[in-house]
Amino acid sequence: MSNQAISILDNEGVKGVDLPSPNADLERIDETASARARPIPRISIQAFCENAATAELVQIASEDRRLAKAHVNVHMGGIEAAVVHYQQSPTPNLIIIECSLPRDQIIAELDRLSESCDPGTKVIVMGHVNDVVLYRDLLKRGVSEYLVEPVPPLELMEAISNIYNNPETEPVGHVYAFVGSKGGVGSSTICHNVAWSLSDTIKASVVIADFDLAFGTTGLDFNQDPVQGIADALSSPDRLDEVLLDRLLTKCSEHLSIFAAPVVLDRDYDMSPEGCDQVIDVVRQNVPYLAVDLPHTWSTWTKSILLQADEVVITATPDLANLRNAKNIVDLLQHSRRNDSKPHLVMNMVNMPKRPEISVKEFEAALNLEATSVIEFDSEGFGQAANNGQMIEEVNAKAKATVAFREIAMAITHRREVGATKKKSSLAPLLEKLKLKF
Ligand SMILES: Nc1ncnc2c1ncn2[C@@H]1O[C@H](COP(=O)(O)OP(=O)(O)O)[C@@H](O)[C@H]1O
Ligand SMILES: [Mg+2]
Repeated sequence: MSNQAISILDNEGVKGVDLPSPNADLERIDETASARARPIPRISIQAFCENAATAELVQIASEDRRLAKAHVNVHMGGIEAAVVHYQQSPTPNLIIIECSLPRDQIIAELDRLSESCDPGTKVIVMGHVNDVVLYRDLLKRGVSEYLVEPVPPLELMEAISNIYNNPETEPVGHVYAFVGSKGGVGSSTICHNVAWSLSDTIKASVVIADFDLAFGTTGLDFNQDPVQGIADALSSPDRLDEVLLDRLLTKCSEHLSIFAAPVVLDRDYDMSPEGCDQVIDVVRQNVPYLAVDLPHTWSTWTKSILLQADEVVITATPDLANLRNAKNIVDLLQHSRRNDSKPHLVMNMVNMPKRPEISVKEFEAALNLEATSVIEFDSEGFGQAANNGQMIEEVNAKAKATVAFREIAMAITHRREVGATKKKSSLAPLLEKLKLKF
C-alpha cells in the first residue's frame, strides 16, 4: 500500500461479519466514471458507515491509486457516531456519512453535525432512497453530494473528485504567509511550530515552503537533510506538477512535509512574483495547508505572496523598530486587502530579562490590532529545540509556547480549540458552517 493511512475503527461490524458477496454492478468497471474520477489531493477523509458493505466500499475506494495521497479513516455507527465524534475531534476535509434515517431525521442530524463542523469541511451523504426532495434539501444545506446505494467505488471516487478537481470550485489548499517585522524575531520558528501543530492536531497534510532560499532554517529545524526542493520548483515553475511536487517535498512526519531551501550561496536565485504564484498554485491544488516562511526582505515577490495569502501572520518583538515595521505591513495589507480579515499579530520574545520593552497593550493600540498570541522569551526552551532540530512541543509538551502555537494554528484555520469550545450551542444551519456557495 502507498503512503495513505487507512484504519478501520470501531470495526466489529467490519471484521466480525461475512461481507456480502461483491455485487456484480460493483465489479463492472464504468468506463466513463473511470475517466471522470481524477486523482484526489492530500485531503483527510473520514467515513461513518452503517453497514459493513458500505465500509468495505469506502475501503476499496481508499485503496485506489486515485486516493493514494488522501488519508482515509472508516468508522462505523453512521451519522449518530459522527455527531458524537466531532464534538470532541476536529473535522477533516471531507466527511462521508451513510444514513438510512427518514428525511426529517437526516436533516435534523445533519444540523447537529453542522454545529461541530469546521469551515471548509465538505460532506457527502450516502443513502438508501432515491428521493429528489431529500436530495435538494441536502444540497441546500451545503451537502456536496447525495449518492444512492449501492454505490460502486468509482462513483464514490468520481463524487470526491468532482468536489476537489472542479476548476469552478476553490482549490483545496489554504495559504498562510508568515513574516517577521524585523529579521531574527522568530517568524520562521513560529511558522514551523504552528505548521507542525496544525498537522498534529487536525491530521491533514501540511507543507512548509521555505522561501528564504539562501539562509532558510526549515531543514535544520526538522533535522532533515532535504533535497533542494523549492529552488528546483522556482527555477522552472512551468514543469511543476503533482508528480514533480512529490519528488521535491521532504516528508518530516505522516502529515507534514517541507519544501526546503537549498541554502547555498554560490547560486543566484531569480525570483519572480509570477514564478512564486505558479509554485504556490500547484501546491494549493494538492495540499490542504501551505505555510509560507518568508524571509525578512522586501521585494516584488515577497509583497505579492503577502498580498495573495489567505491569512498573514506577522511576528514582532516589543521594540520601536518592530512597531514601525509592523505598522507599515498592517497598513499595506489593510489598504490592499479590503475584503480580508486583519492579519494575525504574534508578539514574540516578550519579557526578555533587563530589556526595556513596549508593552503588548501599547503595541496593540498603535496597530489597532489585538495580538493573536503573546509568546515569552525562553532562551532555554527555544535554544534546545533549535539545536536538537525539534519542535518546542517535542522538547517540552508542557511549555507555554505550545499552547500559543496551537492557538495560532486554530486562529489561522478559523477553527475552534478541540473539546474546549465545541459545545452544542448555536443552531446555525450546515450551509453557514460549511460556507458553501450554491
Ligand atoms: N520566544 C523565543 N524565546 C527565545 N528565543 C526565541 C524565541 N522565538 C525564537 N527564538 C530564537 O530566535 C532565533 C531566530 O529565530 P528565527 O525563527 O530564525 O527568526 P526569523 O525567521 O524571524 O529571522 C532562533 O534561534 C530561535 O530559536
Ligand atoms: Mg526566517
